[in-house]
Amino acid sequence: MELPPTAGLPLQLSDFSSALFSKYSAEKSFEKALAEILQADALDIYSSGTLCLRIAFETIKELSGRTKVIIPAYTCPLVPIAAHAAKMEVLLCDTKAGGFDFDLSNLEKLCDKSIAAIVPTNIAGLPADLKKPKELARAFGAYLIEDAAQSLGARRFDFEHADITVYSLAAGKGLSLYDGGILHCRDAELRVKSRLIGARFTRADAFLSLRRSLEIFGLWLFYNPQGLKFVYGNSLRSHLKQGDLLKAVGEDFELDIPAYEFGEFRKRIGLSALRRFPEFLSKNRLRALFRKKVLEEQFALDVLSEEEGTEGSWPFLMLLCKTQSDRDKIMDCLWGSGLGITRLFIQELPAYEYLRAIVPQVSMPNARDFAQRSFSITNSAFLREDMFRQILSSLIDLGLGRSDNQKMTTASES
Ligand SMILES: Cc1ncc(COP(=O)(O)O)c(C=O)c1O
Repeated sequence: MELPPTAGLPLQLSDFSSALFSKYSAEKSFEKALAEILQADALDIYSSGTLCLRIAFETIKELSGRTKVIIPAYTCPLVPIAAHAAKMEVLLCDTKAGGFDFDLSNLEKLCDKSIAAIVPTNIAGLPADLKKPKELARAFGAYLIEDAAQSLGARRFDFEHADITVYSLAAGKGLSLYDGGILHCRDAELRVKSRLIGARFTRADAFLSLRRSLEIFGLWLFYNPQGLKFVYGNSLRSHLKQGDLLKAVGEDFELDIPAYEFGEFRKRIGLSALRRFPEFLSKNRLRALFRKKVLEEQFALDVLSEEEGTEGSWPFLMLLCKTQSDRDKIMDCLWGSGLGITRLFIQELPAYEYLRAIVPQVSMPNARDFAQRSFSITNSAFLREDMFRQILSSLIDLGLGRSDNQKMTTASES
């Protein structure tokens, strides 16, 4: 038995038959259905979230004539790789203490009239604070690009929005189509420009299209507690044994960004799966909120939470221990257990050896601390109540229970 580290919507055989046999037209396309869910006028699909970021960066570079972009020091290494590919200079902003939003005083210091874009980033499906970054972007004539790669389906009731939002459809994301990304430009000028630039990256490739069609079939076949052992768990344990943490979490990225046309077959599968997406999201949220409460009541750790006026998509629960040694104890015990426990980004961006040439080597103490004390628990429906209880037992055995409340209750009992 092996659980996925994130809650991805499992594909069904009916998605494939629907893709093969149902009518598909521009009016009833995947893009249209997604745009409805995201309340967008229009959006575009490319071969990855990283490529969408690259296109977004190139778009704003051409429109503004500026080449500097501010990204958080705790984010996916693919983000500076996308900026580098767009020939942009990366500036790192530290995260706020104990969180993933920008440290605002650091952000203010970095902003001036040479900045092309600020990139607030949603982590663990939780919408980032856009308000202050947007004010700063407006004050200095920069664009706001929301990196929502981890949060397709999260909602904002705070009426804040970025100029461009990027989502990921990679394996393990909420809506997984093996790979893919969504680029949503709010302004018509940005959209027209981004489409011109995007066209350079949408080369039809029959071989890759066929390969991806087989891979998405593999995703359906293996994305379950029996199959994941073969395509995820065994290699995870082998990398952990060798002490190769970057490989364990799949962060050993190349600087090259693959770019090709996202095939229609997978869009058709996406359209079919999308019908189950709203219900999947609301169940995920309820489960996550229950489990977050149980964890916080019983253990001396924090679970990252939604800001007021937002609803997360909750692919996993992101937890912050009091100390790095608590976090390491948990990982030693549970990382290879098959129960969907892992770490997100292993370290702050300047610490990645292979990013040395493209991110500034500056000290980012909050981002470093966050990477050192955090871990995640899957919010997949495959994590049944009895398995969640097993995780709680392990945390108690490790001496992490709150001393005033060692009694174990689970969401189903409370
Ligand atoms: C925060 C963040 N940004 C960007 C990306 C890149 O998305 P993709 O894997 O679709 O290229 C990821 C991927 O996990 C991510 O987590």
